[in-house]
Amino acid sequence: MNKKNIFITGATGLLGAHISKWFLEKADSYRLILLVRKKNNIDAEKRGIEALKKVGVKDSEHFKRVTIISGEIEKDNFSISEKEYKWLTEEVDSIFHCSAITSFQSSIDECRRINLTGTLNILHLASSCKKNVLVGHVSTSFVLGKKNGILKEKVISKLDWEFNNPYEQSKYEAELLISNYREKNFSVIIFRPSIIIGDSQAGKIWNFKLFYEAIRLFSSEVLDVFPGDRLTEHNFIPVDIAAEIICNLACKDEAGKVFHVVSPNNLNCYKMLRKASGFFKYKNPKWISLKEYKESRLSFVQKRIIDPFVPYFNYFGKYDSRKTFEALKKRNISLPKVDEILLEKMFLYCRESGYIKK
Ligand SMILES: NC(=O)c1ccc[n+]([C@@H]2O[C@H](COP(=O)([O-])OP(=O)(O)OC[C@H]3O[C@@H](n4cnc5c(N)ncnc54)[C@H](OP(=O)(O)O)[C@@H]3O)[C@@H](O)[C@H]2O)c1
Repeated sequence: MNKKNIFITGATGLLGAHISKWFLEKADSYRLILLVRKKNNIDAEKRGIEALKKVGVKDSEHFKRVTIISGEIEKDNFSISEKEYKWLTEEVDSIFHCSAITSFQSSIDECRRINLTGTLNILHLASSCKKNVLVGHVSTSFVLGKKNGILKEKVISKLDWEFNNPYEQSKYEAELLISNYREKNFSVIIFRPSIIIGDSQAGKIWNFKLFYEAIRLFSSEVLDVFPGDRLTEHNFIPVDIAAEIICNLACKDEAGKVFHVVSPNNLNCYKMLRKASGFFKYKNPKWISLKEYKESRLSFVQKRIIDPFVPYFNYFGKYDSRKTFEALKKRNISLPKVDEILLEKMFLYCRESGYIKK
């Protein structure tokens, strides 16, 4: 039987590597074509293989189903040769677009260059493909921006949105771009993960962000106070479970839909950080209101460090994820809760990997 070809961007990233692993280990009727860039003088081939090994792909038969193309998401035709591009348009059956600049501190120009132009290039590839391809676009639940309402599982069409940072804005603009794209001889599914954490087995992660960074900052005990609302809740999804959800729902029956890649339960952030301080044995800063923060005598440097975190500790967005849960139920897939045992695995991994030295 001819195998189907999946083109994956962002496979050296946390989620893209797990999605690649899922297809290699659980669906042997697929070949993977990974778009990887050369970085720090290490060529794309080597980086792609290393990323797969890092998520535990071991079987040499699995590596035989992988082709790595050296290219950059934001460049015209990914800056690959005409011949390679033509080959893609003839062979690709589906696309998973995971690559993105994910830092909250990057400028809007930089975020747009990768996240918006990158998405445009993916749409261009999809519309040039000979086959009717399915595009799985990985967005984020943070497209909700500063709104405190409920994010529904449909594409946002309003333009009066406000964002906490350029990352959120560029991811939102990419969704708009997809919904407004006219040359459609392909189908798209938008996946919006909540906050991705380490895998559910061992808590393994390599891009420690947001709450990991906050825990590390708190563990250094340099802050006496921190601006957070004790009622703030967030949804956290282990990376392997996120990949499981995305890979199962990426099928033509679900074309045109938006899915929230979330856990069944939210966590109260204040309580979670108290657990972290108990685990790592450090003294948590006192949580103060935003008004007190503005008036506080924290130094300019302290505020510069804290500022990117502030919106996420004073956060009241909610996600309506019923469509995702229904679609998973139809496939008999149940999701684990993010409970104390799982959290402890994440904390343990932070210690074992040396990310938090306590
Ligand atoms: N992590 C989260 O909590 C979270 C939550 C919700 C949604 N998401 C979304 O999930 C997706 C994956 O996130 P992640 O956490 O796996 O991110 P990540 O670990 O930071 O990986 C980002 C990936 O994008 C690639 N990339 C960036 N710029 C590129 C370029 N110019 N050309 C080619 N590749 C490029 C990176 O390649 P290099 O290795 O070459 O840099 C890497 O493979 C993103 O779309 C993100 O917005 C993430």
